[in-house]
Amino acid sequence: MNATPTDDPTAGGFNGLKRLEHSLPSRWYHDPVQYARELDAIWYRRWVYLCRAATLPESRSFRTFTLGTQPILLVRDEQGELRAYYNTCRHRGAALCQEPEGRVPAGGITCPYHGWNYRLSGELARIPSAGRAHFVERAEHGLYPIAMRVWRGFVYVNLAGDQGPAFDDNFNGNTRQFANWPVEGLELGHRMTKRARCNWKVFWENYNECLHCPGVHPGLVDMVPIYRRGIMEERDDPAWATHPPGDDPLHRGGLKRGAVTWTADGKSLGNDFSQLTDEERRVGYHFLTSLPSQYIVFHVDHVRSARLLPLGPEELELEVEWLFPRATLADPTIDIMKACDFSAGVMLEDAAICEVAQRGLHAQPHVRGVLMPEEYDVWRFQRWVLEALGAG
Ligand code: FES
Ligand SMILES: [Fe+2]
Repeated sequence: MNATPTDDPTAGGFNGLKRLEHSLPSRWYHDPVQYARELDAIWYRRWVYLCRAATLPESRSFRTFTLGTQPILLVRDEQGELRAYYNTCRHRGAALCQEPEGRVPAGGITCPYHGWNYRLSGELARIPSAGRAHFVERAEHGLYPIAMRVWRGFVYVNLAGDQGPAFDDNFNGNTRQFANWPVEGLELGHRMTKRARCNWKVFWENYNECLHCPGVHPGLVDMVPIYRRGIMEERDDPAWATHPPGDDPLHRGGLKRGAVTWTADGKSLGNDFSQLTDEERRVGYHFLTSLPSQYIVFHVDHVRSARLLPLGPEELELEVEWLFPRATLADPTIDIMKACDFSAGVMLEDAAICEVAQRGLHAQPHVRGVLMPEEYDVWRFQRWVLEALGAG
């Protein structure tokens, strides 16, 4: 954010907005031209989360993704290294791998159209042709590479490579957070994919406020008492300084008394992470955000990652991964769905209300909305969008 203290309506001890701010133009949530502009300026320039590295378990495992309009192929090479390419043949551009996931044959990647064949290192190995052997220079026609990074078992790509922001700028520049969670070694216990008919910004704006929580999330506001008040943390209340001392979660945030994690009954599944500080345990949930594609929630017994990919101006795909210690997944007496069902319910409530939010945005008189004090993080998100578009 480039806002200075004097023009920043969120400055000071109270988190909330101190003056009326307007939302982004309503047209930006459905206009195909604006959508294409945001793909170019944001989605094709930022580090975007794809999947856990362990979901490509062996050499020659592959997965395919579509980021906006861009086809992406992630493959583990014979040496065990992950590599990212455009899923596009250098001959006339056919898609190379058709399935969402699978295993490349030992002979490498062969284009289904005219049979050009590539090594997993990206080199063009063979061109079936009755014509001259060196008609095309093979060394100049390898797969198009994509910049890729693995951070704590999470795989990210950046279509802009070195032209985009540095990877360490991800997570607001704080990639060292959450060192006490052994995230690298956690294993995928459950995955949920959901399509929602809304613009990607609608999703993030909803994520960035809890004003909707009392009406939309009855189970969640029981688990996190401060959410019942439509706010996310103590200083979201203008009267926060007058609150009595103590750790009442209604004022201080955190889980309701007696609960330690996000399960239906608030009880831990077991195998809690042993390195957490008392404060990390007390709060019971910690969010880490990597715009525009991912947020991660850290609990005492599991970790959850939600990934967002835009499918069009008014549609997105949400993929949620629940990660657990191996001991939890190996224990037949532990039902991980107690954790998965609880948070899946919250996310499905969010997806449904995001679709409602999207539908009203087409009204011609509604040129743009307004933001309430509690929506200070929506304001910040919208500043981030404007800045990325060069319009801040
Ligand atoms: S497009 Fe791939 S071999 Fe022709
Ligand atoms: Fe919500």
